[in-house]
Amino acid sequence: MMLQIRMLAAASAALLFSQAHALYPLNGVAKTPQMGWNNWNSFGCDVDEELLISATEKLIQFGLRDAGYQYIVLDDCWSAGRSSNGSLRANTTRFPNGMAKVADRIHNEGFKFGMYSTAGTYTCARYAGSLGYEKQDAQTFADWGVDYLKYDNCYNEGQSGTPLITYNRYKVMSDALNSTGRQVLYSLCNWGEDYPWKWAQTVANSWRMSGDIYDSFNRPDARCPCTGNEEYNCALPGFHCSAMNILNKVSHYVDKGVPHAWNDLDALEVGNGGMTDDEYKTHFTMWAAVKSALLMGNNMDKLSARDLSILNNPAIIALGQDPKGTSAVRVWRYYVDYVDKYGQGEIQMWSGQLAGGDYFVALLNAGNKTREMNATADDIFYDAGAEGTSKESTMEWTIHDLWANRMPERVAQALIDGNSTRAASLNVTSYYYNATETSYEDGLARNDTLLLGKPVGTLSAKGAITAEVPRHGIMAYRLRMVGGGLRKRDEL
Ligand code: GAL
Repeated sequence: MMLQIRMLAAASAALLFSQAHALYPLNGVAKTPQMGWNNWNSFGCDVDEELLISATEKLIQFGLRDAGYQYIVLDDCWSAGRSSNGSLRANTTRFPNGMAKVADRIHNEGFKFGMYSTAGTYTCARYAGSLGYEKQDAQTFADWGVDYLKYDNCYNEGQSGTPLITYNRYKVMSDALNSTGRQVLYSLCNWGEDYPWKWAQTVANSWRMSGDIYDSFNRPDARCPCTGNEEYNCALPGFHCSAMNILNKVSHYVDKGVPHAWNDLDALEVGNGGMTDDEYKTHFTMWAAVKSALLMGNNMDKLSARDLSILNNPAIIALGQDPKGTSAVRVWRYYVDYVDKYGQGEIQMWSGQLAGGDYFVALLNAGNKTREMNATADDIFYDAGAEGTSKESTMEWTIHDLWANRMPERVAQALIDGNSTRAASLNVTSYYYNATETSYEDGLARNDTLLLGKPVGTLSAKGAITAEVPRHGIMAYRLRMVGGGLRKRDEL
């Protein structure tokens, strides 16, 4: 009898799982945007087994694995073409032990392993591509123990130009991966061509929406011709796109990212040296706020203490990993200052809903000097009721500053030096969050103060948040309703 009940329970759990799974016919991964490290931005084609293993070691030492950076992703240039039976082969000089061994070593360190191929004849660096070999290659990746596939767009034989043509080309690999039975996060990289945000949700877990990022906050570059100002149809995605260029492009369709299927604004440049501290803070905050995939793109051997304390900020990561999975939206944008080689100066306000009734607000200054900025309650809660009609704008909210508890430099330096005694004496655990122990979802539900930021004031009914925002900087906040939220008050 007992056994029967248990079997029944198991059967209904399986049914529930398959029903839940049916909502995401794809693969069930990436409920929140994927986090990890990708070698491309800092190493390009200079890849080998030791690079990946040393990255895993550094990520563990710096507390970044436990902060949630789970995937180690190997980009282009790992290949030695195909063997006589048509299977992809790894370059044996760079990967002398074979890819399955690399995957094992990465798994043993508590990470997942990502690889790269392309829906074209060649990869962008002209190695063998997977077009026409999807089934065979998907099986090879699954056999090697791959958990993530970044799938590029070069040399696609002209199979693009309409959403359907591109969708069909990318779907072949999606189906092939699924039929291996292995859960592989499928990350499209077609640079926003043919509007992947309109059709990729049912075949992929994320899609790049722009040409490649470069390590600049807002300097325009002729090779990245689409600005994202008004247009969203970009015929030439290009590369050398600045952080602000990419953010402005995605601002038109942030809502297309949903749990299990996200906009990917490209790997982060934090730590690569081309931006100021304020610029990197802005870049990192906004990638989290719009629920982009968060893949670090720096050389871990050169990571500075300041940059580490950006990448490990729990209050910002919690924003990206928020269980509600809703992007912030750009509520307003004004052009300011003059046009120079850095383009047109501008200021922006973003806001959005978070799980549990909290709100996110950011004041972003992409102008040429420090300025006082403000966000009014009517604007912050605009989506809850236009022109000041929202109930939320008449409530009182505690303002939490998401950068005020940033890890001090000396603590981050102790981690980088591998000086665990010093790190412990500086109370390191009070600055970083261990998501391996407690997920962001659970930590938020428990009101872990590391995730909420520091209370710095109150937004009164119909009031405004005013702040000095440095040049190319950001002020980012979590708002929590005083007295426990709307739901409670409504119930009274
Ligand atoms: C580009 C892609 C980059 C990188 C590169 C490798 O197309 O957008 O992120 O993967 O190819 O060659």
